[in-house]
Order: sequence, then C-alpha cells, then structure tokens
Amino acid sequence: MINKILKKRILIPGRVSELTIYAPHIAEKARPGNFAVLRLSEKGERIPLTIADRDPENGTIVIVYLVLGKTSALLDTHVEGDVILDLCGPLGKPTEIKKQGEVVCVGGGTGIAAMHHIAKGNFEAGNEVTSVIGARSKDLLLFKPELEKISSRVLIATDDGTVGHKGFVTEVLQKYLQNNSSVSEVVAVGPVPMMKAVAKVTAPFDVRTMVSLNSIMVDGIGMCGACRVSVGGEIRFACVDGPEFDASRVDFDELMTRLCAFRDQEMLSMELFKKSEAS
Ligand SMILES: Cc1cc2nc3c(=O)[nH]c(=O)nc-3n(C[C@H](O)[C@H](O)[C@H](O)COP(=O)(O)OP(=O)(O)OC[C@H]3O[C@@H](n4cnc5c(N)ncnc54)[C@H](O)[C@@H]3O)c2cc1C
Ligand code: FES
Repeated sequence: MINKILKKRILIPGRVSELTIYAPHIAEKARPGNFAVLRLSEKGERIPLTIADRDPENGTIVIVYLVLGKTSALLDTHVEGDVILDLCGPLGKPTEIKKQGEVVCVGGGTGIAAMHHIAKGNFEAGNEVTSVIGARSKDLLLFKPELEKISSRVLIATDDGTVGHKGFVTEVLQKYLQNNSSVSEVVAVGPVPMMKAVAKVTAPFDVRTMVSLNSIMVDGIGMCGACRVSVGGEIRFACVDGPEFDASRVDFDELMTRLCAFRDQEMLSMELFKKSEAS
C-alpha cells in the first residue's frame, strides 16, 4: 500500500528514528538533496523531511526524523504497517553533482542523515568523499557505518570527546582543508549555527561551499512564501530555489530569527499533544 511504513529503526531511543516507506512514485524520481512534505492527519501541519536514501527497485524511500515538537512526536507514534496520510515529493532542487575530484561532506546531528544521500550521490558519480560528522556524544552519532562504505575517510567530532576530536566539526574541517588543497567542494547539512560556522571556515580557502537550509516550510512548492531566505541580498524560496545555496551568500542570522517565529505556538501545541497522549 502506498505510503506504508515497511520498517522502523530506532537510531537514538526517544529522539531519532528512521522509517523506510513504500512510496514508488517518489523513490523513482528522488535525487540527493530532495525532500518530501508529509501530513499525518486531515487538519495536521505539513512538515518537510529530507529523503535520506531511496531504493527505486523496491519502491522505497528512507526518512530520518528528530522528535522535536508536535508533528514529529506524532510521527514517532507510528509503527511498521501504519500508513502516512500524505507524502508529497520529491521536492526541492536536487544537489548539483558532477565528477570533480574530492568532495567534503559535513553533517551535524540529524543533518548527517540528509548529508548521507548527498555523499552517496558524490560517491556514485566517481568523486572521492571525505565525511566529517559531529554530534554531542558518541551515542548520538548517526549513519557512521553507512558513511564508511562510501567515504575514503570519516572524520568525527563530539562535544564531549567520547569519540574522535573533542570539539566541533568545523575545527576538524579547518584542519583538513589546511592539509589538503585538492578539495573541490564542501557540502554541509546540520543546525544553522553549524552551517554558518562552516561558511566562515571555508571562506579563506576559496572552496565552493553549499549548505542545505531548513527554513520553515508550508506548501513546499513555492506558493506560500514561508520559506523565504536572503541569499546574496535577494529573496529566495528555499523549497523551490533550494534547499541548497552558496554558503558565502546566505543570511544565516535572518534564517535563525525566522526559525523562532512560531516558538510560543509550537510549545503550546506540544503541551496540548502531551496532555492528549497522557489522557
Ligand atoms: C528542506 C528541509 C528538510 C528537513 N529535513 C529534516 C530531516 O530529514 N529530519 C528532521 O528531523 N528534520 C528535518 N527538517 C526539519 C523538520 O521539518 C522540523 O524539525 C519539523 O518541521 C518540526 O516539526 P514539529 O511539529 O515536530 O516541531 P515544532 O515544535 O512545530 O517546531 C520545532 C522547530 O522545527 C522547525 N519547524 C517547525 N515547523 C516547520 C516546518 N513546517 N518546516 C520546517 N521547519 C519547521 C522550527 O525551527 C521550529 O522551531 C527539515 C526541514 C527542511 C526545511
Ligand atoms: S514553503 Fe511555501 S514557498 Fe516555500
């Protein structure tokens, strides 16, 4: 059945899970960098989630979500065999992938899952992939085995030093760029402060740097304007013009402000959801 959850894998208990969903229409067309918008009930909100992988032969896509607020918490109540009411995709412009030598893929937190599809696309295009991944601690590090299969090296940073470099991915990236002048491109997916810091690190090296922006989206097809971002002083819609943009031109501070625009409503919505789950 279309949009049926075939497999649920809990990656970090209570926080991050992976769903393999039967969606042959999306699996056939999805490319690295694309996302899907899902809705769980008739009156429910629509949320965008990156297509972390696809298997066109079996007609499946993979999504990985962090339980953050009401809709992701509701999604987390779904189990194998359940059906997602609406799943629209693939949306957004796919990553521009060409054979160009070495590409460094940087992922932070749940962004590592989204970065995985981009890294895989670069590997399949014949590029050498270096993955730089970071999380708060070893237990929160996602997709390491999957990335090891397609990367020449996987460099790790954790805030608490439980594995890899103790500190941020940007420190690992900076050291890597200092020692390797052959890098053609850097792609980063993760929290906005991380992507902003990546842009700052790569600027002196004059290496093309792309970031995947997670602005608030409603329709995901360019009609509502919710996802607007400033890139090079011009308004762009992340859903149709992106979500990937040249990091050196993105106004990250504006993006961070816009992401907090509905914080009070989101907290209220989560509180009501928790109460309804408890009763
Ligand atoms: C292109 C794109 C791809 C994304 N891919 C992933 C992914 O693969 N995995 C993942 O865990 N998250 C991903 N996100 C973020 C995800 O959409 C939000 O975490 C989710 O919408 C939160 O909804 P909520 O109701 O659970 O939380 P809420 O409490 O409603 O919101 C928590 C925070 O999530 C963000 N958010 C809320 N609503 C939206 C919305 N409609 N669109 C975008 N952001 C929103 C805001 O920053 C908000 O402060 C992606 C976002 C974009 C734009
Ligand atoms: S989400 Fe509506 S214009 Fe992009």
